[in-house]
Formats: sequence, C-alpha cells, structure tokens
Amino acid sequence: MKTYRIALIPGDGIGKEVIPAGRELLEALAAAHGALRFEFERFDWGGDHYRAHGAMMPADGLDALRAMDAILFGSAGDPHIPDHITLWGLRLKICQGFDQYANVRPTRILPGIDGPLKRCGPLDLDWVIVRENSEGEYSGVGGRVHPGQPIEAATDVSMMTRAGVQRIMRFAFGLAQSRPRKRLTVVTKSNAQRHAMVMWDEIALQVAAEFPDVAWDKELVDACTARMVNRPATLDTLVATNLHADILSDLAAALAGSLGIAPTANLDPERRYPSMFEPIHGSAFDIMGKGWANPIGTFWSIVMLLEHLGEAQAAQRVMQAIEHVTADAALHTRDLGGTATTEQVTRAVCARVGAAALAG
Ligand code: IPM
Ligand code: MG
Repeated sequence: MKTYRIALIPGDGIGKEVIPAGRELLEALAAAHGALRFEFERFDWGGDHYRAHGAMMPADGLDALRAMDAILFGSAGDPHIPDHITLWGLRLKICQGFDQYANVRPTRILPGIDGPLKRCGPLDLDWVIVRENSEGEYSGVGGRVHPGQPIEAATDVSMMTRAGVQRIMRFAFGLAQSRPRKRLTVVTKSNAQRHAMVMWDEIALQVAAEFPDVAWDKELVDACTARMVNRPATLDTLVATNLHADILSDLAAALAGSLGIAPTANLDPERRYPSMFEPIHGSAFDIMGKGWANPIGTFWSIVMLLEHLGEAQAAQRVMQAIEHVTADAALHTRDLGGTATTEQVTRAVCARVGAAALAG
C-alpha cells in the first residue's frame, strides 16, 4: 500500500468547486485501486485569507507544504484584489519558492470535443508546451520611480540566466525525446529582443548537441501563433519563455476546444520540493457558485500528478475515464456548449474509474 500526501489549495472562485471534485476523483481512484491511498490536507489560502489576514497565504505557508508529495491547486484571482497581488502572493510564491521551473502544458483535442480546428484529427493536434516558470518576464525585477509625477517611470526587466535557460532547454529536449515524434520547436523572439533571447537561442543550440536524436527547429513567437492554427501537425513539443508560453498556451487550449479542459504541471524536475498541478483556467467569478465549472482541467491535472508520482497505470486509468466522459456530449459543461454540471461530470468520471477497475 502506497500512501501519498496531497495538499489541496482551492484558492478563489471556481477553484473551490473543481478542487473538491478533484479530491472525489482521487478518492474514487483509491477505492478502485487497492494499492493506492491519498491523505489530504486542505489550505484555505487566497482572496478570503487576504481579506482576513492581509496576505494570500501565511508567511510560513511554504513550510506547511514542504513535506507533501504533491500540491493540487485551483485558481487564484479575485475581482476585489489587484491581480498582481493575488498572483505574487500565492501561486508565484509557491512556484518560485519551490523552484518549480518547468511548467508543462499538454494539449490534445479529446474525444467528443469540437474545436475551431475541426479539420484536424486528434493526432494533428498533440502538443506539449514547456514554459520556463522561474524567471524571464516574470522575474519580478523592475520598479517604479517618481510615482504619480509627470516624469514617472516604470520597468519590468526580463531576466534570463544561463543556468535557468540551460535547465529548461534540457528538460524540454528530454521531454521531446520521450515522445514518439522526438520533435522540439524552440520559440524565440531574438530578432527584436537582441540580448536575452539571443542567449536563449545560443543555449538551445548548445543543448541540442546533447540530444542528437531530437529533431528541432526555431520559430519566432508571432509566427508560431499562425503555425499553431495553420499547420498544427508540424508541432509536437514546444519550449518558450515564461510570457511567450503563457500566451501560446491559452491559444493552444482554445484551439483544443476550451480553457476548461487544459491542465498544467509546475514541476521541480529535481524533486527537491513538491510539484504543483492545476487547471489552466482562472477563478471565473462570473460562473462561481452555479455548478457550471468544468472539472476536466483539474482531472487532467491529476493525471499529470499521478504520472509525476510514478503511478503511470493509475494515470492512464484516469485519462481513459476522462476521454470516455468527454466523448458523451450529454456530459459537456457550458464552456463546451453543453448543460452538464460539475457534479454530473465528476460523478461520471469517478464511476468510470471504478468500472475500469472492475474490468481489469
Ligand atoms: C497562467 C495564468 C497566470 C499567468 C495568471 C493567472 C497570472 O494566466 O497560469 O497561465 O500568467 O502565469
Ligand atoms: Mg495564462
């Protein structure tokens, strides 16, 4: 019997709806599996914590998470608190505090899902975007001077380090190598950004020599958006800076049918700290409390969590259950054009996980 300690951080808005759904799924998996157990600890951090205590999470919050095997995170964002506070006070604090430098965002068109790229079969769109998750445009370097004065000035410096670029390139080449097509596209903007992005390109070239069996190319980020729409099958694994990948991954999720489906892993590949898994969508206050949130993004994130824990078979079982459920249009939530509720989708996926256990 293997027991994993999972931290649950629902956060704000629909995070409070999809994370309990995720817990139900893990419990259903444990019930079906026999050799797998989960212990949960819930941390009510986010906007409400900020209103009560003046901080999104306690100062020693990272210490509480350190001993966990993984973190399942909902979303952070509150219409009454500035976005940069909710982001830097919680999600980035965990990502950067635990040096989760590889953000992994897979995209596929799941069975039964209608997306804008209808002419593509499922195999035509099978991408993984690797997002540099520790520096670049999100490094937090910058400042404001002369606040409120006509001469006010502000900077956000995109800081890139050789070590930071090298490790994300190695991770991305390694991931590309593990996938059947062994193909990596290095996304850049070195035509306009002539310092850090030129170093980015140089390091890509150097790291490529360590992975001779990976076919790789370079694409400017703007051209990459067009390629994602017009020639999706030419892409497989992509690696991009923090901000570039942030933007490309929303495009990828929309092309795959809905932001409600897309998952993310914030990984510390060296496993010094727990890694964090979360749906890509935000807190969506507009639909909060209605039971409309799509839990699939959280469920797919759980697949990534299980893969990271080395539970490949359990991960596969959950992915198959997800695909079984998305194939049924009667179980589509509103973001997919259906009327199903969070609860109905959750019940269906949990039932399938149980049924799959009985079958084999
Ligand atoms: C994401 C999100 C965040 C980001 C927001 C919530 C700040 O868009 O995870 O992609 O930009 O990193
Ligand atoms: Mg984003």
